[in-house]
Amino acid sequence: MAQPLQIMTSFETALKFAAKAVEQRLDLRLPRAGRIAEAMRYAALSNGKRLRAFLVLESAALFEAPDALDAAAAVECIHAYSLVHDDLPAMDDDDLRRGKPTLHIKWDEATAVLAGDALQAQAFVILGNMAASDAAKLALIQSLAQASGAEGMVLGQDYDIAAESAETPLTLSEITRLQALKTGALIRWSAGAGARLADEDPSALHQYAEAVGNAFQIQDDILDVTGTEAETGKRVQKDSAAGKATFVTLLGLDGAKALAESLVQQANEALTGYGPKADNLRAAARFAIDRTV
Ligand code: IPE
Ligand code: IPE
Ligand code: MG
Ligand code: MG
Ligand code: MG
Repeated sequence: MAQPLQIMTSFETALKFAAKAVEQRLDLRLPRAGRIAEAMRYAALSNGKRLRAFLVLESAALFEAPDALDAAAAVECIHAYSLVHDDLPAMDDDDLRRGKPTLHIKWDEATAVLAGDALQAQAFVILGNMAASDAAKLALIQSLAQASGAEGMVLGQDYDIAAESAETPLTLSEITRLQALKTGALIRWSAGAGARLADEDPSALHQYAEAVGNAFQIQDDILDVTGTEAETGKRVQKDSAAGKATFVTLLGLDGAKALAESLVQQANEALTGYGPKADNLRAAARFAIDRTV
């Protein structure tokens, strides 16, 4: 029987294109030989949404920056590493990621630690070798290291784990800070990367991405409650049992949804200066909260 015709929006087409393009670039840029290389490929080339890559490419397109695929591949390496470590027994202890066994289940914990470490290093190898001016490369390397490390994603992950055993529940501003770091920092870097490549000011895109990052994590927390394993490709109903501090645990589902909606508006306001060229970025903000995957 003929398949029903699926009409994709221009955003969906662009996201699909970005996913395919960054996966091809990752395939070229990831090492091939040996066990750790195989594990890195398993984590980085599995079925992700590629939203961070998409933000890099759309931000580059706004400024007509040259080839941004290496920057997109680099942030997807950092993101993949963060997921591998996030899933370890010492952290969230998950056995399913992107619809497949987590790396430490497929191999073992030592391999997951090492493959994560190597994915992190590989991001900077890719940026260091990319075709761009030395000044642009330095700005990208410095800002990605900052966004990933002890003042960025890693700090957010530390707050996230600490919240599980906190004596008093976190306040809204503490949760906002936690999420802005653990998820927001890499999303912010991604949206600013095109501007940095073109030597333009990333501040409006950073403002946009701060709202999107927050909204994206709210939806992640909502999907933990309302989503399915088949669609998300990961275990659900885990956050509350683990004592995680999320917007949903603090505000309830309706409160979290309302906050996410207002963040999408904030994101769009930050893009006012860019006109229709930024329509895919506007659609990405909506996608952050409408998605079921
Ligand atoms: C999951 O990120 C972890 C968070 C930071 C919320 P994504 O939902 O972007 O995961 P993939 O890349 O699509 O698998
Ligand atoms: C993960 O947040 C954030 C990072 C990996 C930095 P979560 O722990 O909520 O992500 P999922 O739900 O496991 O994808
Ligand atoms: Mg986690
Ligand atoms: Mg997790
Ligand atoms: Mg989650």
